[in-house]
Amino acid sequence: MCGIVGYVGKKNCVNYVLDGLKHLEYRGYDSAGIALFENDEVKIIKKCGKLDELIKYINSTKKIESNCAIGHTRWATHGKPSDLNSHPHRQNKVTVVHNGIIENYEELKEILKEKGYCFKTQTDTEVVAALLDYYYEGDPIKAIEKLTEKLDGSYSLGILFSDIKDTVYGTRKNSPLIVGVGENENFLASDIPAIIKNTKKYIVLEKGEIAILKKDSLKIVDFSGKEKEKKILTIDWDIEAAEKNGFPHFMLKEIFEQPQVIKKCFRTRLLEDDVDFEIKNLPDEKIKQIKKIHIVACGTAMHAGLVGKNILEKLVRIPVEVEVASEFRYKNPILNKDDLVILISQSGETADTLAALRLAKERNVFTLAIVNVVSSSIARESDSVLYTWAGPEISVASTKAYSVQLACLYLLTLKFAKIFKTIEKEKLKEYCKFLNKIPDVVNDVLKLNDKIKELAKIFYNNKNMFYIGRGLDQCLALEGSLKLKELSYIHSEAYAAGELKHGPISLIEEKTPVVAILTQTNLSLKTISNIKEVIARGADVLLIYNDEKNIDSSLLEYSIKLPKTIDLFSPLYSIIPLQLFAYHIAVFKKCDVDKPRNLAKSVTVE
Ligand code: AGP
Ligand code: GLU
Repeated sequence: MCGIVGYVGKKNCVNYVLDGLKHLEYRGYDSAGIALFENDEVKIIKKCGKLDELIKYINSTKKIESNCAIGHTRWATHGKPSDLNSHPHRQNKVTVVHNGIIENYEELKEILKEKGYCFKTQTDTEVVAALLDYYYEGDPIKAIEKLTEKLDGSYSLGILFSDIKDTVYGTRKNSPLIVGVGENENFLASDIPAIIKNTKKYIVLEKGEIAILKKDSLKIVDFSGKEKEKKILTIDWDIEAAEKNGFPHFMLKEIFEQPQVIKKCFRTRLLEDDVDFEIKNLPDEKIKQIKKIHIVACGTAMHAGLVGKNILEKLVRIPVEVEVASEFRYKNPILNKDDLVILISQSGETADTLAALRLAKERNVFTLAIVNVVSSSIARESDSVLYTWAGPEISVASTKAYSVQLACLYLLTLKFAKIFKTIEKEKLKEYCKFLNKIPDVVNDVLKLNDKIKELAKIFYNNKNMFYIGRGLDQCLALEGSLKLKELSYIHSEAYAAGELKHGPISLIEEKTPVVAILTQTNLSLKTISNIKEVIARGADVLLIYNDEKNIDSSLLEYSIKLPKTIDLFSPLYSIIPLQLFAYHIAVFKKCDVDKPRNLAKSVTVE
């Protein structure tokens, strides 16, 4: 969703804000805008389209001198992308940038119209500016307090008051906002990549707090104006992690980072032949009581959850339900005190997953989050957290985050299997030894990149594609298919291979591409039959397999051979060709790989 930045300092703010926005563009790219103090006046410049449009425009006008600004990159929720609907929005003395959704904006708009306010845009955000202006009588804290009492929904806000020069205000509820702490300069941002070039120190703003940023002072106060002692955190990764480092796209860079990040995720948790890590607040005795697990997540993270269900049920023999968070939160889920709710999220800010977490907590069920972004809302609010340690994932399509989510789920499964005594010692040793080899196996599979690119060239002109597999391979089919459609806009469906003949096979015609994943020995013959069924109807099958047994040449016209290892662990590396295939297809189709249309990296609205 939208990205917010703010800067106050001694330097000219324009480049800081634009650079910050560049690093937040993954959050939305429908439009971009900036509001700054110039000659004691607040000036707004905004443009529909990607940030480059705004940069081009600013570069073509006379140089701006300013030390204080807020900026925004938008993922439109209310009002189509247009110059007018772009943020910042101003009403009299108040200018705001907003991330989130104001659910009662129509009602508030009507009230404000009666009070004489006119609205030029279709956004919910303009109502925030007007309401804040209405309450503002010279005391920003009081006005912000009154504003937040009236707003329903989610927001993080960057605010300028035109009569309080060179000061940026920030506040939030349910959308993220951090404050970067600098020397003679301070920053406001939705996420770390926007500030990391300038400072490694930051504060996480909480609901009910207001940040007041000036060049030589930084205060976090509560709504009564009382200053709060806040912990200053340190970012533990470098700017290179948020840059492309020679790769043409973040996505490709992140795909190629997978061996290292999996290694990092295993470090301190996986021994040579054992798993050894604590889950805070969840001692082994308590784990033993768990009767059922609910995995709740969205998109790719939910697909990782499906692999989790498969392996947990297989090795721990405990029932696991996987639920998309947007459904879970509204279905009055059956939760018992001995259940465990696992939330999976790269960003740790996904609105639906966060709401699901809060629901589980309200019901007093233990919540464990598998999260990438340190100190994100989900990480902070859950009872315990397993960090995935993938570093920043910038590309909207999730790749390395998925792999480390899987890595955590494998670690967790082995830990639980040990505690529930559902795994023999020797087996556990064998599995751990193999897990240690996974980064090397992933490295080997990455070497198939050129071959996968060639195949992508053959298939990229298609309008529809199918992905099929059984068991763990079906979970991978779902993820492969999501990658393809989100990146390349090719319509694609994923099915359990055995389910095809119950309807979807009617869509198979001459040359319909079917990506078949075949890594599970016990299901292999069954899937091969399903593959032959589609070949008989003219399909072009791209086979991703790891064992020649039972495979005849009719299946190998388009194929990728993976290493043969232990079936249970194949998702950890068979995802690679699917990621690369979708990537290269999107490149051949000249799609915007890192910023696919209509999407945003972190979905902080419902
Ligand atoms: C996947 O490529 C997508 N970007 C999307 O499905 C994503 O996984 C989903 O929105 C969940 O995000 P989260 O992991 O940050 O919660
Ligand atoms: N609701 C605001 C808009 O549509 C902000 C959207 C968001 O944060 O995603 O402009």
